[in-house]
Amino acid sequence: MKIIIINGPNLNLLGKREPEIYGNETFEDYFFLLKNKFTTVELHYFQSNIEGEIINKLQEIGFSYDGIILNAAAYTHTSIGIGDAVKAISTPVVEVHISNTFSRESFRHQSYISPNAKGIIIGFGMKSYELALKSFL
Ligand code: DQA
Repeated sequence: MKIIIINGPNLNLLGKREPEIYGNETFEDYFFLLKNKFTTVELHYFQSNIEGEIINKLQEIGFSYDGIILNAAAYTHTSIGIGDAVKAISTPVVEVHISNTFSRESFRHQSYISPNAKGIIIGFGMKSYELALKSFL
C-alpha cells in the first residue's frame, strides 16, 4: 500500500505557526511517529509552498499510488488548478484540515478540493492525518 501526504503552503511552519490553532508539533516529528505506527504502509511525504509544484506532484503520483492525503492549506480555498488536478488523476484523494475550517473565517468554508475528494477529514488537529490514513486501510 503506497500512500502520500501532500501538504500545501505554510504547513512547513507547523510547530511555530499559530500554535493556538495548529499545535506545537512539527510535521516532521508527527510524520516520524505515523511512519512507525503504520509500518505496513509505504508512506511518503511532500510539502510545497508553490501551487504548480503541488499540481506536478499530484500528476506524477496520481496514477500509481493507492491513496493521497491532501492538505492544500490556503490553496484549498483558491486553487481551481489543484481542484482540476484532483479530478484528473485516478488515485483517490482524502482532503484533510488540521483546524475546523467551518468554525473560522467564511473564506475558509469554500473548497475546490472537496467536490472531487473521496472523503474529507476536518478539525481533529494532527490526528486528522491518521484518520485519513486509516480510511485507506
Ligand atoms: C488548513 C486550513 C486552511 O484554511 C489554512 O489556510 C491552512 C491550514 C488546516 O489544516 O487547518 O493553512 O488547511
